[in-house]
Amino acid sequence: LLERAGALLEQLRFSSTPVVVTNSRILGLHGTILLPALEKKFGPSPVIVVGDGERHKNLAALSRVYDGLFRAHADRRSWIIAFGGGVVGDLAGFAAATFMRGIPYVHIPTTLLAQVDSSIGGKVGVNLELGKNLVGAFHQPRAVLSDTATLRTLASRELASGLYEVIKCAAIKSESLFSYLESQLPSILACKRQALEHVILEASRIKAEVVSSDELENRQRMILNFGHTVGHALEAATDYRRFKHGEAVAWGMIAAVGFGEAIGITATEVVSRIVRLIHRVTRLPSLNGLSLTALRAAMGRDKKFQSGRIRMVLLRRLGEAEIRDDIDPARLRSYLKKFLAHPGQF
Ligand SMILES: NC(=O)c1ccc[n+]([C@@H]2O[C@H](COP(=O)([O-])OP(=O)(O)OC[C@H]3O[C@@H](n4cnc5c(N)ncnc54)[C@H](O)[C@@H]3O)[C@@H](O)[C@H]2O)c1
Repeated sequence: LLERAGALLEQLRFSSTPVVVTNSRILGLHGTILLPALEKKFGPSPVIVVGDGERHKNLAALSRVYDGLFRAHADRRSWIIAFGGGVVGDLAGFAAATFMRGIPYVHIPTTLLAQVDSSIGGKVGVNLELGKNLVGAFHQPRAVLSDTATLRTLASRELASGLYEVIKCAAIKSESLFSYLESQLPSILACKRQALEHVILEASRIKAEVVSSDELENRQRMILNFGHTVGHALEAATDYRRFKHGEAVAWGMIAAVGFGEAIGITATEVVSRIVRLIHRVTRLPSLNGLSLTALRAAMGRDKKFQSGRIRMVLLRRLGEAEIRDDIDPARLRSYLKKFLAHPGQF
């Protein structure tokens, strides 16, 4: 797809040259394929290089993207190509949502997480010192080009992290995708094209379907937060250092099905299939040293908590999730205490 990006994007009939936003690592690895392909159709594209990593998804980096756009003589007819993972996508997408009150953008995601999750749904934004994703917008990309070949250069931990989000999609919406993951996991981890194409297409379809039914996240879209109540708390309680997002969500899914089982919603067989598949992907960073107090403090700060109530997505069966607003905090507390004390059991 990278080689054909110029021809594919020409079909969108933009009337100007794109501005590419990326980081130096992605530019070095895959820019030599993308840039000539764009040049063939649009002439040389200006490139804005941003820093690599979550700590660069901030207002200072955003400001540098605006400067770069201005220096590239971008105007209201211009369009952006976000070329990279979720960090580049969120940052460049938010720049597109706001530059000159909004210009179009296209995402060419280069991580599995970005291909199956962050490039779909139109949530864009940056972090503040005070917390993640606190400033943002809904701005849908005009197109998403997911080239599986880019994933071959991805670190295995990043691939695994994206795969947990695929497992999440399957768990909440598609038992057949879940079974496919169970049977084809080795091919996926080896980046076999056919297997990757199947899971990326299916997970993207699921996310797009859920988002289309509730673009502005009133309720239905929240099922995508399966595993995120505890997952976000784990990330925040460890200052975003110990876990990749997907890894925290993986532990969060394990906690959510375990809790669901404890309160009689999730069947034991579902719990064991989920736990088994997650642990087959790779070894998750441990939960050692995490206290219930730290976890609860982090949960209290989470945007998803409304007026002190705890909302959680639980699984009835594979492919069928349920948003629950009636979680008894004391019950959850005692479950999490056990969960943190004996993570090896899970
Ligand atoms: N907008 C949404 O709906 C949404 C959803 C989920 C996550 N997110 C956001 O996504 C971000 C995480 O995204 P991510 O996991 O893609 O992280 P990332 O963008 O930081 O990418 C991970 C690392 O992989 C490198 N990389 C990217 N593509 C590569 C390739 N093809 N080969 C080698 N290295 C490559 C990056 O330079 C980076 O170092 C977070 O900021 C999160 O908040 C957004």
